[in-house]
Amino acid sequence: MLEIDVASEREMKKRLLVTGASGLLGSKIAKIAREDYEVIPLYGSKPLNSNALKLDITEREQVFSLFKKVKLDTVIHTASETNVDKCEIQKDHALRVNVEGTRNVASACSKLGAKLIYISTDYVFDGEKGNYTEQDKPNPINYYGVTKLEGEKQVTQNCQKYFILRASVLYGWHPWKHVIAICYTAKKVGGQIKAGAKEGNANFFKINYIPEKLAFDHAKMMKDYISGAA
Ligand SMILES: NC(=O)c1ccc[n+]([C@@H]2O[C@H](COP(=O)([O-])OP(=O)(O)OC[C@H]3O[C@@H](n4cnc5c(N)ncnc54)[C@H](OP(=O)(O)O)[C@@H]3O)[C@@H](O)[C@H]2O)c1
Repeated sequence: MLEIDVASEREMKKRLLVTGASGLLGSKIAKIAREDYEVIPLYGSKPLNSNALKLDITEREQVFSLFKKVKLDTVIHTASETNVDKCEIQKDHALRVNVEGTRNVASACSKLGAKLIYISTDYVFDGEKGNYTEQDKPNPINYYGVTKLEGEKQVTQNCQKYFILRASVLYGWHPWKHVIAICYTAKKVGGQIKAGAKEGNANFFKINYIPEKLAFDHAKMMKDYISGAA
């Protein structure tokens, strides 16, 4: 009886595919979304867990074939080249992952009628004004920002059902990433972990969260957002 209940509950759960589930944000989203969704985590080259599926988002055929096979309802697209310096130096690579990869994901979602949540960045703005809204005109000042903004356009042009979330700096623990960045930022702002740091105008706000919790909060906020719409 219990088995039947569990099975029917599983059937009722919507299927959520998370690209970049081996990354800082994607791994948190995949973890907390499991409560409400049947989560299919995807990784690019470094799996975090054994049930994740490998997908290179720059390979169009691979994307279409995998998306079709898993019969998904919603995709959270967090996969990206996030190394800002690398994007500046290897522009072709950044373009391929952040723009062409996003186009592949958006087009595949469109073909299958799936909803898409694309994680963009506040780097689409130049930082001059601050407190940005959707109405503000983007003006990226580095190539990473250029490619993320172009990724947004790929979403709006190739997909019908989408959300675009522009996240700010994320902090959190990850097995092989970001720890150095956290320490560096903490040192730079006087030994305390602070978020919202903007060089130049000292526009800091102190946070009481440990970094891990902040990353979870980002993930949870996005999941709640999706729940209301899915
Ligand atoms: N970190 C921040 O402060 C920040 C701020 C604002 C917005 N964002 C946005 O939030 C999202 C998540 O950022 P994050 O910091 O969590 O990223 P991250 O830790 O650097 O992880 C990036 C993810 O993308 C995957 N990936 C890279 N190239 C791929 C490819 N060709 N095919 C498939 N997967 C690929 C990586 O997979 P493998 O490692 O397995 O190769 C990894 O899972 C990104 O879209 C980023 O632009 C981040």
